[in-house]
Amino acid sequence: DAEESLKVRPPVVTIMGHVDHGKTSLLDALRGTDVVRGEAGGITQHIGAYQIKTKGGDLVTFLDTPGHEAFTEMRMRGANVTDIVILVVAADDGIMPQTIEAINHTKAAGVPMIVAITKADKHEANPQKIRERLLEHEIVVEQMSGDVQDVEVSAKTGQGLDELIEKILLQAELLELKANPDRAAEATVIEAKLDKGKGPLATVLVTRGTLKVGDILVVGTHSGRVRAMLDDKGRQVKEAPPSLPVEVLGLGGVPMAGDTLTVVESEARAREVAAYRQEQATAKRTTQAPA
Ligand code: GTP
Ligand code: NA
Ligand code: MG
Repeated sequence: DAEESLKVRPPVVTIMGHVDHGKTSLLDALRGTDVVRGEAGGITQHIGAYQIKTKGGDLVTFLDTPGHEAFTEMRMRGANVTDIVILVVAADDGIMPQTIEAINHTKAAGVPMIVAITKADKHEANPQKIRERLLEHEIVVEQMSGDVQDVEVSAKTGQGLDELIEKILLQAELLELKANPDRAAEATVIEAKLDKGKGPLATVLVTRGTLKVGDILVVGTHSGRVRAMLDDKGRQVKEAPPSLPVEVLGLGGVPMAGDTLTVVESEARAREVAAYRQEQATAKRTTQAPA
């Protein structure tokens, strides 16, 4: 692996925070779309995985995680795909239970955090109070002479969005994120489901290599072959480089969040690896079963 040609890859940024504090709206504003309006009751039901191109041409991948379950589950399964956490705190509401939960998850994962104080346009907004309350959770932001970057934003007016992107890119540069795009792909399952028409579908994030249509793969305990890939706008893509989230069609079964997708050289090898992983999973279940 030391011989590998590593290239800079886009950062993977996970948005966390209390319910209705404006996570999806912030992402919408950054992407220039309107996902929130399409959500039942304005509640995010599943992970959204998006990649945006900044004005300067840099790419940033975002994960919108409702309730943080997916983040916790993936981390528990050893799949830590997040490079940077954006902690969203609504300026008119302050630190709430899920804000504290997000802080704890982020600390446990050892991932750098950027605080985005959202809804800064509101009359009731009190960003200074939030900075002070964050001290109680050992988060000392720049404005309080600490080293955690913070920025006031509004999804409504667009305030602070460029600054937020700048801070993400700065943090990413410090992290020196790299991957080799010129090898067989590995990816992590972000979410998966069974679609009536399309069969098993998985949203994956490529961690190294480039995933290609036609690739033979193992994902969790299933084998398969990439039949098609869709980006976050539903467009077909032929290749997915590191940090690009894509929906993959052509899996032999529905994997779990946190499962690794590995590209292998032959169908025989894929079946062999899948069978081995099934054995392992069964053995684990048997050992864990109550006496
Ligand atoms: P969940 O996914 O359900 O946890 O919510 P969320 O954190 O994604 O929040 P969402 O984006 O759904 O926004 C919640 C509400 O706050 C919506 O009514 C938004 O219109 C409103 N909102 C979000 N951002 C802003 C903002 O910057 N300014 C104002 N005034 N309202 C906002
Ligand atoms: Na909401
Ligand atoms: Mg949401």
